[in-house]
Amino acid sequence: MKLVTLTRDAEIAIVTVSNPPVNALSQALREQLLEVVGSLGADAGVRGVVLLCAGRTFIAGADVNEFDKPPAPPHLPDLVAAIENAPQPWLAAIHGAALGGGLEVALGCRFRLAARNASLGFPEVALGVIPGASGTVRTPRLIGVNAAVDLITSGKPISAPEALAVGLVDEVIDGELMTEAVSYLREALHRPLPPAISQRPQHAGNFAWEAQRQILTRRARGELAPLKALESIEFSTTHDFDEAMAFERRAFLELRTAPQAAALRHVFLAERAALRPADLKDIASLPIEQIGVVGGGTMGIGITAAFLDAGLTVTLVERDLESAQRAKTNLKALYQGTVKRGRLSHAEAEARLARFSAISDLTALAAADLVIEAVFEDIAIKQELFGRLDRICRPDAILATNTSYLDPRAIAEPVSGLERFIGLHFFSPANIMKLLEIVPLAQTSQTVLATAISLARRLGKIPVRSGVCEGFVGNRILKRYRAAAEDLVRRGISIAEIDAAMRDYGFAMGPFEAQDLGGLDIAFAQREAARSAGTQIAETLGDILVRAGRKGQKVGAGWYDYVSGSRTPVMSEDVMKLLAGSVGPGKTRTRQQIADSLVAEMAAEGERILAEGIVRQAADIDLVEIHGYGFPRWRGGPMFVRSVS
Ligand code: NAI
Repeated sequence: MKLVTLTRDAEIAIVTVSNPPVNALSQALREQLLEVVGSLGADAGVRGVVLLCAGRTFIAGADVNEFDKPPAPPHLPDLVAAIENAPQPWLAAIHGAALGGGLEVALGCRFRLAARNASLGFPEVALGVIPGASGTVRTPRLIGVNAAVDLITSGKPISAPEALAVGLVDEVIDGELMTEAVSYLREALHRPLPPAISQRPQHAGNFAWEAQRQILTRRARGELAPLKALESIEFSTTHDFDEAMAFERRAFLELRTAPQAAALRHVFLAERAALRPADLKDIASLPIEQIGVVGGGTMGIGITAAFLDAGLTVTLVERDLESAQRAKTNLKALYQGTVKRGRLSHAEAEARLARFSAISDLTALAAADLVIEAVFEDIAIKQELFGRLDRICRPDAILATNTSYLDPRAIAEPVSGLERFIGLHFFSPANIMKLLEIVPLAQTSQTVLATAISLARRLGKIPVRSGVCEGFVGNRILKRYRAAAEDLVRRGISIAEIDAAMRDYGFAMGPFEAQDLGGLDIAFAQREAARSAGTQIAETLGDILVRAGRKGQKVGAGWYDYVSGSRTPVMSEDVMKLLAGSVGPGKTRTRQQIADSLVAEMAAEGERILAEGIVRQAADIDLVEIHGYGFPRWRGGPMFVRSVS
């Protein structure tokens, strides 16, 4: 297949890459580009070459289909070098995304122009590798060490204006890209050429390598690639170009076959599949713009912000005017916090709030495209609400519940057409957490399901479909994880050691400190409710603590003590005393053993969930744990860990 076409504008050759959908650098594309470099090089009539891409983007990176295969020639570093060494200067005209290998190809060019909408970056670390075709070597030679370290170790792309500011591109283009590129290059041919990037000197200045290493080590929590990227950049500042290239390539190839890269590729592919499920690809989704949110507590506010952030319009309905006013105040405070932290401009926050209203009259939701409730976790309240929504809302409006533990089938009983009903389980804080568990009923239509998934995409969430069971996927595994952690305590392993083991494993927090932060009383209340409904639930250690008033950080006492005003957990004598009757003699296990056993428990529950058909594939369970519960992404999730161990 022809992936590269050649046209001419007098002395300028125009090379257009067309490898839909994202012009990925497949082996075939590398081969055809290399051929074109050769044939143009031999053409005395060509004085300069413009490289651009058809479709919605520049070369957006490597070809995911080649991820798990050994690299096949021609290798990318050779292609980049060939472009740089061509007798005529090349110019990369970038629109859309120039990522990874795509950006490295652009670095082989003498000039880089970017359309204003373009983004440029090195996402390699997110896949457990580092740039492997001069990203860590040419980038610092072009934009300096500081900017290169930021760009490469973060994996986050930057916008065209940011790229211009650091010197990654020569100009930002507002007009027609090809025309502008040709005339830019034509003019540049009258001036002396800038040196090829590989020929530029490398100045590390007084960059604080050690301090940066410490920052990255803390942030990475066991992830190797960002540190390796830093090492490769550092090496390139003290060695000549060829030695630096050899170092980078070795590091790249080593990482590529390491377990972390395999885990990160697994997560990347699982996310892609979740965002565009194959079984729904022919199902059109409904247009969604007007959202109704019922209940403006913790979740209602977070969910509202998630919708506003994605550009939708939200009407929030609370029980009475006073509660509606409180919700409004809380939402404003949320946005003020975001502005204060520098994450959002004041004007943008105002624009989002302008798409929001809060009232106490449910009939205001008559025109909504989708209504989601986040009222108290009480079946009678939710049923009464859906009875009213069924009468008030448009017959084709989607009705959704954010319940954590109630049975959505029971919640939906008063709804007349169940094809429009669905569970949309957000995680707290709902405007931040990426996971969205989507819980269709047997009757939910494919159209409504497809709409929920495309809505998740629009909100920047990772949708995971779950069948109905207590706690759905995430909270069901959480329950088992916590029970297993308590079991270790009963067997005499210290609370602090268990938390430390999970932090060492890569979680931000261990199971006990996390409960102290969220509050022990919510799960306690749930257990008590089940007990009073006749379910046999054995006394947990958490029950003992809550009965003694230890509800977590908010009261300064939970699994740990907290000094007033501090969030630092301190081992508690009182807890020892309270639990003395339930805890065996002190035992030691290595942190690795502790973490392995708890992750194995998660995976075992995952196996049951899979066997019951609650999820469609094991990878979905991994996504739930990574995006909802802080499981370290670079380990791939509990099911992946189980599959490779
Ligand atoms: P919350 O207690 O903070 O907020 C509930 C809000 O609903 C209150 O502001 C209350 O005034 C309002 N409300 C109650 N009845 C109402 C009615 N008939 N009409 C209008 N508003 C009404 O509770 P939270 O934590 O926000 O939870 C809400 C729902 O979300 C529950 O079903 C819960 O299980 C679920 N959920 C909670 C999560 C969490 O981490 N808190 C996570 C995921 C789901």
